[in-house]
Amino acid sequence: MLRSSPLKDRTIALGVTGGIACYKALELLRLLTAQGAQVHVLMTEHAQRFVTPLSFETLSYHPVLTDMFAPAAEKTMKHIWLAEQAEMLVVAPATANILGKFAHGIADDLLSTFFITTRAPVLVAPAMNPAMYQHPRVQENIAKLRQQGVEIIEPEYGRLAGPGEGEGKGRLAAPERILARIEDRFCPKDWQGITVLVTAGPTREALDAVRFLSNPSSGKMGYAIAQAAQRRGARVVLISGPTHLSPPPAVECIRVTTAREMYDAVMAHLAESDVVIKAAAVSDFRPQTTAPHKLKKEEMTPTLLLERNPDILAEVGQRKGNKILVGFAAETEAFMANAWKKMERKNLDLVVVNDVGNRTIGFGSDENQVQILYRDRRQEELPRLPKSVLADLLLDRILPLLSHPSREGACPQIS
Ligand code: PMT
Repeated sequence: MLRSSPLKDRTIALGVTGGIACYKALELLRLLTAQGAQVHVLMTEHAQRFVTPLSFETLSYHPVLTDMFAPAAEKTMKHIWLAEQAEMLVVAPATANILGKFAHGIADDLLSTFFITTRAPVLVAPAMNPAMYQHPRVQENIAKLRQQGVEIIEPEYGRLAGPGEGEGKGRLAAPERILARIEDRFCPKDWQGITVLVTAGPTREALDAVRFLSNPSSGKMGYAIAQAAQRRGARVVLISGPTHLSPPPAVECIRVTTAREMYDAVMAHLAESDVVIKAAAVSDFRPQTTAPHKLKKEEMTPTLLLERNPDILAEVGQRKGNKILVGFAAETEAFMANAWKKMERKNLDLVVVNDVGNRTIGFGSDENQVQILYRDRRQEELPRLPKSVLADLLLDRILPLLSHPSREGACPQIS
């Protein structure tokens, strides 16, 4: 059974105000509708000078609301209907002007009136010139809105659109970041009260000051699991080998390099964890010696002497008690036989098997295709899916294995 996006059939009001970042609101709209959300756009007069309502109408499949005093009675009704039905108001980009109106309850146009009418939670993504953004009045207004329970997604630092504008903090947050925050709101909080330890990425085993043994793990699989668990209310400790990824917000991330460092970090956090998910690709061996300098050709021999690294998962399996322990099996042949052996040898509750010989899934890709093995000998084949979707499916499979008292009474933020 595959789960659908938490945004499917959600009614979202998207407020667009006048700024050069308006074009990014189109991308946000596209992302939201791709998740199955019903998005109704409200544009201010200034926004319509940057992008036409027709663009938003085409992408949202709904008429765009622009004018409080539109003559058609149905339009007036639509405002009221939307204020009642919207499950969230997202304003992106939000100008200094609209922040000021929202903060002070000024309702002199469609969007500012909508803001004080709707009871839906509000997410505001400011975008403006950095000097304006830093202005004390704008900062006061943002602080006031936060106090009132409005969620603010900070603008990003970077090059600004206008000629000679230079760099600074004021660019609209990336549409993917805004989407992630909206999804957070609608995610069920069914992992509340559960502490999850996730490992991700490769380990590196140094041969000398510049060379190491490693593998192509990007960390994407483990980070997706960490993010999904955090969104669903879990406390997440992410132990990550070297990756280029930024840890998901609100996840405690411990960076390690070697298998032994990963071992120490896992053991240090084991007692507090209810679930351990080991998506990391840990080097089984390390060079017997590590030179502190870059080895010269003359100093090296064609034979590399290795020694075994600790098997972290097997050790956790020995100490696991009633924790749920999930291992990954990265295989290139005899998938099932090897994976079942791993389940027994490492005392696992679940094994996620993936074909790392296939370059389009597994290592480094955005998608993966896995089989899940259960202790009761069941096995489940999942289709090829984005790692983010797979992460949620995996959490769905793990949840029933837990009998955690604090899960009782945990309720979604928005149902
Ligand atoms: O990071 P990505 O680019 O997104 O790629 C994802 C992935 C392919 C790395 C991931 O899906 C995956 O398969 N992770 C496990 C990789 C691996 O090391 O598999 P393994 O079959 O060699 O090890 C089995 C299990 O034992 C794994 O859970 C591993 O974390 C663990 N292990 C292995 C060796 C060791 N010394 N200690 C361990 O804990």
